[in-house]
Amino acid sequence: MRFDVLTLFPDMFREVLATSMPGRAAASEIAEYNLHDLRDWTSDNHRTVDDRPFGGGPGMVMLCEPMWNAVNAIEALDERPARRVLLTPQGEPLRQSRVEDLASSERLLLIAGHYEGIDERVIEELDPLEISVGDYVLSGGELPAMTLIDAIVRLLPGVLGHEDSASEDSFSTRDEEGRPLLDCPHYTRPREWRGRAVPDILLSGDHGAVARWRREQSVERTRRRRPDLLSEPRPLGDDVRPTSRQPDGGEPARGEQSGDGPGVSSS
Ligand SMILES: C[S@@+](CC[C@H](N)C(=O)[O-])C[C@H]1O[C@@H](n2cnc3c(N)ncnc32)[C@H](O)[C@@H]1O
Repeated sequence: MRFDVLTLFPDMFREVLATSMPGRAAASEIAEYNLHDLRDWTSDNHRTVDDRPFGGGPGMVMLCEPMWNAVNAIEALDERPARRVLLTPQGEPLRQSRVEDLASSERLLLIAGHYEGIDERVIEELDPLEISVGDYVLSGGELPAMTLIDAIVRLLPGVLGHEDSASEDSFSTRDEEGRPLLDCPHYTRPREWRGRAVPDILLSGDHGAVARWRREQSVERTRRRRPDLLSEPRPLGDDVRPTSRQPDGGEPARGEQSGDGPGVSSS
């Protein structure tokens, strides 16, 4: 799977993408990371990527033209169509079902914003899938992009060993009605630590009983900690808010661009 990342800070990615599962995915050529510095698509000596906002107010806004030129040039680097993803606090809250969906893509182009945000017109033209990593605001889209890459690559076949398969993790494990569950608690040696004993059932050697206990723990944990997960199953993208402003002033929901589609390199 090919990842292209458009960012003002490509150096932030290198260590993360060379470590743990993202690193393993790259080393085994299951994932390929291509980092692109937005400033490479500027045309002035200062390599300007932002300007003051029309209407006044604090902060700077990222310019349309470098981003538009960058996306078009990056997409032309490979014949596989890229699915465009913009990291933004105003996007669809990221859930495991969306991660699974994105993991089936051949190629993703992740766009990390900065400053006050990005000129709305280039977002409208690019029409990316907009993803948020939570209801809080970070300084830039770099950490959200790394979060998304990590969540995706650990689902790619061959990245996780059998011993740490993703299917029993929180949100991947599901109840009979398809609702996501939290993982069960885990224990390792010693059998007793600071007066706390490992549950007897885990030492019983009865694999069926252990599986039933784990399942019960999962359901009980989910009920206590995340009862919202046990409400109706939610289809992909159901919490995308219809916020995008169109050139004609209308407000239809922002869609996503159609074309679904070793190592870390920079352009
Ligand atoms: C300081 S934020 C801009 C916030 C924007 N003014 C707003 O209130 O919606 C700068 C950039 O960080 C990224 N970002 C911040 N919080 C994020 C989140 N929760 N999820 C995804 N990206 C986020 C986005 O790429 C955004 O363009």
